[in-house]
Amino acid sequence: MKFKILSLFFVLAFAFTTLAWHTPGQPPIEYGACLDLPDVPFNYANILLPAHLRLPNVQDADNTPAGNPVTDAGATLGRVLFYDTKLSANQTIACASCHKQELAFTDDAALSTGFEGGLTGRNSMSLAMARYYQNGHFFWDERAATLEEQTLMPIQDHTEMGLTLEELESRLANTEYYPPLFEDAFGSPEITSGKVALALSQFVRSMVSYQSKYDQARQTAPPGIPGAAPWPAFTAEENLGKALFFDPTRGNCAACHGTEAFIAPGPRNNGLDLGSQDLGVGGVTGNFPDIGKFKVPSLRNVALTAPYMHDGRVASLSEVIEHYNSGIQPHPNLSPQLRDYGPDGPPRQLDLSPTERQALIAFLETLTDESFLSDERWSDPFCETMVGTTAPVSQDSWVAFPNPATDIVHLRLDSPLEQECQLLLFNANGQLLRQYTFTGQQFSLQRDGLPAGLYHLQLTSEQGQRVKPLVIR
Ligand code: HEC
Ligand code: HEC
Repeated sequence: MKFKILSLFFVLAFAFTTLAWHTPGQPPIEYGACLDLPDVPFNYANILLPAHLRLPNVQDADNTPAGNPVTDAGATLGRVLFYDTKLSANQTIACASCHKQELAFTDDAALSTGFEGGLTGRNSMSLAMARYYQNGHFFWDERAATLEEQTLMPIQDHTEMGLTLEELESRLANTEYYPPLFEDAFGSPEITSGKVALALSQFVRSMVSYQSKYDQARQTAPPGIPGAAPWPAFTAEENLGKALFFDPTRGNCAACHGTEAFIAPGPRNNGLDLGSQDLGVGGVTGNFPDIGKFKVPSLRNVALTAPYMHDGRVASLSEVIEHYNSGIQPHPNLSPQLRDYGPDGPPRQLDLSPTERQALIAFLETLTDESFLSDERWSDPFCETMVGTTAPVSQDSWVAFPNPATDIVHLRLDSPLEQECQLLLFNANGQLLRQYTFTGQQFSLQRDGLPAGLYHLQLTSEQGQRVKPLVIR
């Protein structure tokens, strides 16, 4: 496994206790959390983009402010912050818990789970190409005027991460690894929430997806704006889908999901049935013409970002296509691009054949960029990760998570133990399989060959004894 072969850069100073193994015949193995960063920072500042992403219609939409250009050291700090559960009140949630790299930095749940188990109000957003959103506003309703403003909002949100900025600053200052990272990024080890915002924004802006099948095919295609002309590197089905996507008299998708970042310059109303629940941008500005308008997300990697739309109401791409084919609802603010017979006409009916619907999906699938989903530049730098596992707040004194588990189980106690306590692992037949002792507040137990099934964990401390079921898959 990765963390076993990588050098340990920093051993986190607290919270993670080493644990002694008592399996007879084996030397004790020590586990701890570490941060694995390259000696020379990765390249974030000068990523060489293919020609079609260097075109003015993409580059002129870049919302990077003059005061916060992406630097290698700044984005490196942003990467560590993005994956650090210390950014949430009970240290269970990181940005990456709701923005998962393998899902193009979104979440597969319609609503995401915050640090205390509460749900977010909307669907998590994919972060790829965020820098090419021209008006530079963030969130579905665009309530954050800049990315620098946005990045501190989830940290302070009472459902998502629940920290005050003062708590954030003192918590980061109390680690061994942040002061040097701040120094590398900003020239001084002093930690401020303003710098946190800058670094997280740099990391998010560095998330550029440019190596999909679309990008490869585009580079061998005849020059000119993508349209009906078939590309040699695409299948016939993908070419049909591409033609529909770009044709203003057919799919007309590019009218909103435009440029080769597949993103719009501003919010639109795409004819979802809104009820009166969520007014979108109108709920923020209070202006009637903004009601029902939402940020138009980039469609890069869209095959991985289900469920779709601001509330995650649409489960699959075929249902998205069905919405645009025959499901568009009338609304005074419905975008003209989605109307028939002129700018005030009724909702558009596309009348796509089953072959055409399938072709549109095949084209959207060419926007999947496998290297973006696994590139180390955007991956978890912590060797023993807590990310992706949401621990519910415990009703009694400790939690074991994830449960069901696959490779590793983390235990977290509500308060640190000063005296040694004992943890026993039994199988479903009550046979004792493993025995550990530890102090502190948290440790991790490796699967190491345990077969799938039901187990019991028994924790004995000065406070007494508790047993919990544990499922290993
Ligand atoms: C508990 C889940 C959760 C956590 C934790 C979380 N986010 Fe999000 N994120 C969301 C949701 C949900 C939205 C959409 C919310 C909305 O529009 O109202 C979102 C939206 C965003 C956006 C807006 C993207 C766009 O195109 O407008 C950015 C950027 C972002 N998050 C970055 C972060 C960063 C950085 C962190 C960590 C500091 C973070 N998120 C933590 C769930 C989460
Ligand atoms: C008038 C502008 C407009 C046009 C034209 C348009 N879209 Fe959209 N699209 C949007 C908006 C706005 C959203 C987000 C709406 C929301 O969540 O409230 C969206 C969302 C989506 C999503 C979901 C993305 C996600 O991450 O949740 C997909 C997929 C999509 N559109 C595909 C298409 C396809 C395919 C076409 C052409 C058939 C198309 N769109 C045409 C504006 C448009």
